[in-house]
Amino acid sequence: MLGVQALGRQRECQTERRFPKALTPSMVNTDATDLDRQFAIDSTVRVFDAAASYPIIEVTNAHSTASIALHGGQVLAFQPRGQDPVLWLSKDAIYREGKSVRGGIPVCWPWFGVHPDPALPAHGFVRNRFWQLTSTAQLDDGGTEVVLFTEDDEQSHALWPYSFQLQLRVRIGTTLSLALTMINTSTERVQITTALHSYFDVADIGKTTVAGLDSVEYIDTLQNHRRIRQHGLIRFDAELDRIYQQTQGIERVQDALRQRTIRLQKQRSESTVVWNPWIDKSARMTDFEKEGHRRMLCVETAKVGADLISLEAGESYTFGVDMSLETLCPTV
Ligand code: BG6
Repeated sequence: MLGVQALGRQRECQTERRFPKALTPSMVNTDATDLDRQFAIDSTVRVFDAAASYPIIEVTNAHSTASIALHGGQVLAFQPRGQDPVLWLSKDAIYREGKSVRGGIPVCWPWFGVHPDPALPAHGFVRNRFWQLTSTAQLDDGGTEVVLFTEDDEQSHALWPYSFQLQLRVRIGTTLSLALTMINTSTERVQITTALHSYFDVADIGKTTVAGLDSVEYIDTLQNHRRIRQHGLIRFDAELDRIYQQTQGIERVQDALRQRTIRLQKQRSESTVVWNPWIDKSARMTDFEKEGHRRMLCVETAKVGADLISLEAGESYTFGVDMSLETLCPTV
């Protein structure tokens, strides 16, 4: 049941009703050669098949390199020049339609987590389908923008009976910025839970902490969804799977070995999921590289729990995150 405060927040939804027609191509184009012809920009943007019929948009600009899969609108890599990768990508990831890649930033939508109906996929369905590339552009500051789009169709109606449009805007500069906009194009109210399920690359999980969630209450999904208050930094020495609630500040992944921090500045997301599967759970995932749990953690910009999105017919909502690197100054 939603509280009054939560409902108030959702009324802030923007009023735009649909994306302009030009931005909503009617057919998903997965032909990498054709996409490259339409969207390549000099030496900055190219589109190619990373696996059979699996187009990747690769960006190389003055600030960083990045790659984004058409499948799932999933950012796979982001690496500012002279730095180690920011995003973790499993060496055993599987690149095929219908399967979300293990790593990068899967888009979980329109539900987060396991669905009560076991026949439906975990974390929604948009991470398991090809999206449409809508535009690529060079920005004045030397950055690059890539926009992807997906909407309801017969397949989505079999899983979720509503009409929608979904757009992911990715900006690649010294900062990686993601903004996910959803429009309820159906005639009824819909409720959505969602996350930008970001996997971060760290040198050693034992020497990594997450700052910025001190005193915040979380739901521990490994302890019967008990509510617990965080004290100080988050440390990792076992499986961890938590939904932090009413998160509004800046979060930092502090990598002591690399002496760097990944700074996460969220927009219009008041929940954060922190996850590391540790040894046994990661061993059960065939696409999770051996010992990978030591090199990653997820800090997910979310809209889950009491922070869910409720959209009346025609309403839209945008949330997102900016990710950037800083030199590590330990925080407590
Ligand atoms: C996290 C959840 O967001 O995603 C975990 O909190 C889940 O419970 C993990 O195991 C990975 O999910 P999946 O479906 O990509 O294996």
